[in-house]
Amino acid sequence: MLRRLYHEQPESFAFTPANLEWAKGQIAKYPEGRQASAVIPLLWRSQEQEGWVTKPAIEEIGRMLGMAYIRVLEVATFYFMFQLQPTGSVAVVQVCGTTTCMICGSGDLIRVCKEKIAPRPHEISADGKFCWEEVECLGACSNAPMVQIGKDFYEDLTGERLGEIIDSIRAGEIPTPGPQNGRFSSEPLGGPVALAGARDIDMNASVLLATRIGDTVKRITGDEMDARTAVGSGATKPRISRPAESAPTTDAAQVTPTPDVGQVAPQTLSAPIGDRPDDLKLIKGVGPELERMLHGLGFFHFSQLGSWTPEEVAWVDAHMEGFHGRIEREGWVEQARQLANEGETPHSGKKIRLDE
Ligand code: FES
Repeated sequence: MLRRLYHEQPESFAFTPANLEWAKGQIAKYPEGRQASAVIPLLWRSQEQEGWVTKPAIEEIGRMLGMAYIRVLEVATFYFMFQLQPTGSVAVVQVCGTTTCMICGSGDLIRVCKEKIAPRPHEISADGKFCWEEVECLGACSNAPMVQIGKDFYEDLTGERLGEIIDSIRAGEIPTPGPQNGRFSSEPLGGPVALAGARDIDMNASVLLATRIGDTVKRITGDEMDARTAVGSGATKPRISRPAESAPTTDAAQVTPTPDVGQVAPQTLSAPIGDRPDDLKLIKGVGPELERMLHGLGFFHFSQLGSWTPEEVAWVDAHMEGFHGRIEREGWVEQARQLANEGETPHSGKKIRLDE
């Protein structure tokens, strides 16, 4: 496929202040003289910001990294993950068309994309919200056929189910990602034959992992996940290794507080007052699993969390296996105080509106 810059380009490009700050952090990871190594993350962030990689973005990134524009262009045109033309404002549906998915029915998925989005790949739908493309194997072959939408995989699909998913995204809903046929992950269709212990979980493996590392927060509310969250949870490994001397204070080992310094156990409850716990998930960084953990420790109300002293935070933190550092990092105490006093934070307001 010929990959070249789109014939119409915007006048200019600038990272948002938050993205600029993030980009500077990426650049700082590399030794002096090796800043060009940040070209892929910066291009990717520009695509996340604009929806596609524009010529002004390529030029700006070249300036930031001290690279000739042509070098940045070479990277952008080499990797198919970079969209070189405008995309739908809501989603790009990427249909895997490689062997396993093809055998299992990706042709049906492409037919649905043609019907519901646009007849040709990369063409934007009439409502401006979608476009689609066929991509190579996305590594979920055991759950074929599948598509990627945004950062989510929708697996074990049929044409009919993909049609429903597109319709619901078009209506502003967020369909549950992961296997669409009731499977937890990639166990046999008839159920697991090993590690078959009962699971007390009402979500599939994709949702469970995303929830555990706080990753669905971004998908649902647009908030950025803190990269340290994934590291701290133990659910995934850090993707980037940094030279020891320049490692910023974001590695898991550095954000994990020392558990025995200044700990004081806060007051706990054996049950929620009036049998009505507050929805602790309104606190940014708290998902269903963490809420269960907090309940297990005896915390059910915003007023409880909002009254923690630093010593009490240290005690709770030491008891939250796999989530060390989250309380301070996400500012739970301040959020809980605000929720107890005012009933809302910017994060909870967004979440409530999306839940309605
Ligand atoms: S062949 Fe489709 S995910 Fe691998």
